[in-house]
Amino acid sequence: MDILISNWSRVRCLPEKYIFPAERRPGNHKVSVSKDIPIIDLERINGPERDQIIQQIIKASQEFGLFQVINHGVSRELMEKTMQMFRQFFESPAEFKARFYSNDLNASCRLYTSTLNYENEEVHYWRDNLTHRCHPLEDHITHWPDDPPYYRKVVAEYSIEVRKFLLMILELICNGMGLESRFFEGELSKNQSLSVNHHIPCPDPSATIGMQAHCDPNLISMLQQGDVCGLQALKDGQWVGVEPLPGAFVVIPGLQLRVISNGKLASATHRVVTDLEKSRTTIGTFLIPSSDVLIQPADCLLGSSAMLYRGYTYEEFFGTFTGNNCEAEMALERFKL
Ligand code: OGA
Ligand code: NI
Repeated sequence: MDILISNWSRVRCLPEKYIFPAERRPGNHKVSVSKDIPIIDLERINGPERDQIIQQIIKASQEFGLFQVINHGVSRELMEKTMQMFRQFFESPAEFKARFYSNDLNASCRLYTSTLNYENEEVHYWRDNLTHRCHPLEDHITHWPDDPPYYRKVVAEYSIEVRKFLLMILELICNGMGLESRFFEGELSKNQSLSVNHHIPCPDPSATIGMQAHCDPNLISMLQQGDVCGLQALKDGQWVGVEPLPGAFVVIPGLQLRVISNGKLASATHRVVTDLEKSRTTIGTFLIPSSDVLIQPADCLLGSSAMLYRGYTYEEFFGTFTGNNCEAEMALERFKL
């Protein structure tokens, strides 16, 4: 049997390798969506309400470490076209997809299932993933799928637009915190990945999970959710559902924003549960620092408070993060002063 779940048809019973031990199961996977998750409307960002909107972003990043954004300027048509194409990719024949299998973290395009550690893990996650590196485009685009023929053009356009969007959010965060507007441009956001998750309907969503609870290790992440529930965030010790709002992007500050802001901004712990009836595809975009850039709390944000973390390179952080089973708190502990 092929290992990609998107190659399976009509799974009636959850295969044993996907059944989590009781203490790691999602429990009540059907939590309702939270109306408290902040929704930032950018329609009037260039008008007199700019400062107010910036403060909403800062507050959401401090209190939730996750927010939704509407009227962000990326066209609905492009969002839908890109989503449609990725869904089509996962539905394409196994032989076609096999061309893109890779476990290499540095590959310009890699298709895998569960985690990059599939061979050695005790239990598998109910997900396939297609990741494209996409910045600078010309270094990677020729390794992406080329069928349908407009695939690369659409994904390239999407990558460029969402990069602009994330850099705008970072600039607004800078404005709100008193950092120089372009603070995060350059090495801190040099790399960009598009990470598409795909989950087929799951016969027992209470016993398995699409993505385990985690914080994103990068600078900042965003997500186009499609229309199926599945993303949950941890708020005050409770899991809450993140509503798939039509046309919205979910923004999640990554662990590097937490460190650079000296702990002022939060990075929400989140996970993905599976759905009994519907397949779910999401398009994630991550901005990632270059491996050798020095990361440390920004001087001008310290004020009278002590520096909480020592400086490190992103390479060092990422190695520590994966070495600690991707447990954010354990990894951060190694860098605390
Ligand atoms: C991620 C992630 C959530 C989703 O890729 O880091 O959290 O809903 N994805 O796919
Ligand atoms: Ni994540």
